[in-house]
Amino acid sequence: MSRGNGAIDLSPMEEVFARYADQPNALIPILQQTQALYGYLPREALERIAERLRISLAKVYGVATFYAQFYLERRGRHVLKLCDGTACHVKGTPTLLVAVEEEFNIGPGETTEDGQLTVEIVYCLGSCALAPVAVLDERVMGRMRPEMLVRRVKRQIGAR
Ligand code: FES
Repeated sequence: MSRGNGAIDLSPMEEVFARYADQPNALIPILQQTQALYGYLPREALERIAERLRISLAKVYGVATFYAQFYLERRGRHVLKLCDGTACHVKGTPTLLVAVEEEFNIGPGETTEDGQLTVEIVYCLGSCALAPVAVLDERVMGRMRPEMLVRRVKRQIGAR
């Protein structure tokens, strides 16, 4: 959805606005569908929403930052969470991080250039018996090993 110069193409949002044309209070579903389009909520998109719904940008931001489901930073289509709580750390999360960094060229909190993958660190998912634990697009994967992790991530990215 992003053009070469970094500007965001907002035209796909027209369909979303059309869907909620008669519903002035549809801010949350509009935000959800906008995020589904871009993977996060770009500033330009929030400005466009404010303009179309005739509400202040501050209000749009207020709602977007209130709910944990919304992301204001660019995020990959796929999200890999690596647990680095004590049990997972001891059982090998650092080696998983190195493998991800080598294979996809991204570290914690970063997203690949093509927007496919974001890596995040989390702390204890309550599944320490399965350490080290990784979560790929909400799917929990226990006792992860570097090669297995890279393989699964590649498969998931290719699956779309
Ligand atoms: S430390 Fe990773 S699940 Fe508990």
